[in-house]
Amino acid sequence: MNEPRYRPPYPHEFVPEDYYARLEPEDIFSNGAPLEVDLGSGDGSYTLALAEHHRDRNFLAVERLLGRVQKTCRGAKERGLDNLKVLRLESAYTAEWLLPRNSVSRLHLVCPDPWPKAKHHRRRMIQQEFLETVHNLLVPGGIFIFKTDHEEYFEWAEEELAQYPKLEVTPFPADNFDPKSDFQLQWEAEGKSLQVLHCVSV
Ligand SMILES: C[S@@+](CC[C@H](N)C(=O)[O-])C[C@H]1O[C@@H](n2cnc3c(N)ncnc32)[C@H](O)[C@@H]1O
Repeated sequence: MNEPRYRPPYPHEFVPEDYYARLEPEDIFSNGAPLEVDLGSGDGSYTLALAEHHRDRNFLAVERLLGRVQKTCRGAKERGLDNLKVLRLESAYTAEWLLPRNSVSRLHLVCPDPWPKAKHHRRRMIQQEFLETVHNLLVPGGIFIFKTDHEEYFEWAEEELAQYPKLEVTPFPADNFDPKSDFQLQWEAEGKSLQVLHCVSV
């Protein structure tokens, strides 16, 4: 029996032609609509809800676990979301090397690993270098949204942002559609709540 040599991509999965070359915006979506990126999108419940609500925007969900990529792709297909694609790749690499600069209108980082032990803090995504990468990706006036259920990581992120003047923390707009992911619902059921930082690129 002939085994396939390559895993066929799922419908809605985005597979870059070259994993070493920076993409052009049209490589991801060709319609020119604003692009939103969700780094570490998990099972996709948050991005799927956003894409369903904002049909006039494009969404790229980035997740490294295949099962979660598959689930998100299935959700996009079932809901007929032509404006959502899923990339199976590591978030920091994607942000630093793959995504086109000056192309993202909103970048979401929702509940990344808080790396609670002090000796692991350097593994946290929110660091000065990452904030610079985020700023490079955002269009002028673009938005970076960070959410966490981890109090100490939230304070860490506030301090890192205070040292990074090109992203200004502003109140979360009351009229923004802000869906809850399955993870968030699970945490809230355990009595935890998420804290949010909404930052504008200046
Ligand atoms: C706690 S979950 C949150 C998922 C989603 N943001 C939500 O709120 O529902 C974190 C997700 O990020 C993914 N993840 C963690 N580190 C990652 C990385 N460096 N690159 C890509 N995905 C990552 C994990 O596989 C997991 O699905």
